[in-house]
Amino acid sequence: MLLTRRKFAIGWGAFASSAVLDARFGFGDPASAGTLLQIPTLVDAAKQGNAVKLKVMPGRHAFIEGKPTQTYGYSAPILGPVIRMQRGDEVQVTVENALDTVTTVHWHGLLIPGYNDGGPQQLIQPGKNWRPILKINQPPATLWFHPHPHHDTARQIYMGLTGMIIVDDGSDDRLRLPRTYGVDDLPIILQDRSFEPDGSIGYDNNDLNALDIAYGARGDTIIVNGAIAPVAKIPSGLVRLRLLNAANAQNFDLRFRDRRTFHVIASDGGFLAEPVAVNELVISPAERFEILVDFADGKAVALETGPDKEMGEFGRVAPDGSADYVAVMQFEPTAGIANLKQVPKRLIDTSAVSVSSAVRRRQFVLDSGLCASRPQASAHGDMPALIGINGKPFDLRRIDVETKLGTTEIWEITSIGMAHPFHVHGALFRILSIEGAPPAAHLTGWKDTVLVEDKAEILVAFNQPATRQHPFMYHCHILEHEDAGLMGQYICS
Ligand code: C2O
Ligand code: CU
Repeated sequence: MLLTRRKFAIGWGAFASSAVLDARFGFGDPASAGTLLQIPTLVDAAKQGNAVKLKVMPGRHAFIEGKPTQTYGYSAPILGPVIRMQRGDEVQVTVENALDTVTTVHWHGLLIPGYNDGGPQQLIQPGKNWRPILKINQPPATLWFHPHPHHDTARQIYMGLTGMIIVDDGSDDRLRLPRTYGVDDLPIILQDRSFEPDGSIGYDNNDLNALDIAYGARGDTIIVNGAIAPVAKIPSGLVRLRLLNAANAQNFDLRFRDRRTFHVIASDGGFLAEPVAVNELVISPAERFEILVDFADGKAVALETGPDKEMGEFGRVAPDGSADYVAVMQFEPTAGIANLKQVPKRLIDTSAVSVSSAVRRRQFVLDSGLCASRPQASAHGDMPALIGINGKPFDLRRIDVETKLGTTEIWEITSIGMAHPFHVHGALFRILSIEGAPPAAHLTGWKDTVLVEDKAEILVAFNQPATRQHPFMYHCHILEHEDAGLMGQYICS
């Protein structure tokens, strides 16, 4: 409801009067009186016999003080735990669905067979449990989990269902990386929301309009780990941030207010070969980057985001258009424990990309134009479906692609309508070219999601099986696009 009215006015007068914003945080200013950054509970699977329980449940959470609203969470009122899993372990997860609606839990980035992947086929009915055994066998990385029920993914994530996974193999020690959870190793979950005057977030599948579907749901207020403009107290040294963009549609264009250099050490699939120095970083929906930031100078600094360039004028976040970059959160170094000061020179040996090994090449054209011929194809009330991938909106009964286990393929992704963050389940890929050029250094590692403005070529490695009954998905990670049909299915055997 709210989304429809306000969303497309992203940025402007519609919410300039919002109490949230002016009380906390002028758009040009860091939040100094803001709430502390909430650190999700760490569930260290190995320390509890590799048995992890997750309860998908409704909750209440006050984004705005004194104005609690209905939310969803995993064993929490909003968001969920950060689950640390050790490479080589088998983790028995018990998911209980305590919502009054059907859900699934998809382990985004985990390399596991299709039957445990939690895609739209793997529905957990209200009151029921799902007990996948996750065999962790991939390099250390920052992953996440979220619902994936067809036509309801966007709403359920918007309501709060997002958790993080850390795959660990002990290499942090060897690499001398910050690794004390909640102290110098912080999960940073970036999202955006719009609030009603009573503090509620609303998302009604039956009330989305064509623009909501065409551009995805975008809020006027950025939240980090569920809080507006929080402050993180961190040690005066090297700090590792595990950035996750869990927004429905918004790209964040991050930098520090003082433009300090920071180092990207990992992307979706794990470590880069070596740290990459940058002072600005675009992160699109579902992407993760781990960065090292040096706070040894002891100065407080805001992390800020610029307008979503993919949205032109509509991409601005400052309501009155007064600032191009707005503060997302504030970091305040405190004197404290002895910290790491040195960014490592090398991280891992990444294998060279072997294009000649690819067994075939496929084209995927993602088109978010409205599908005129199938106006009722979406379950979003009477919302039109999108044209889809290669001209076809998603169909649960159709397998689009068959791949061979142990092979690699070159996939050419073309975006029409706008830039689409393309994601493949059950596989990792390397970017061969993007917008006609080789990828920037921080995009040269293993990925599972890539923002494609125009065209990208990726080399996908298929090492997990998926049957017709439990195929893997590939899709645009703008959640309204995914729900409205920009998704396909592949099997692998
Ligand atoms: Cu985050 Cu189908 O995925
Ligand atoms: Cu899209």
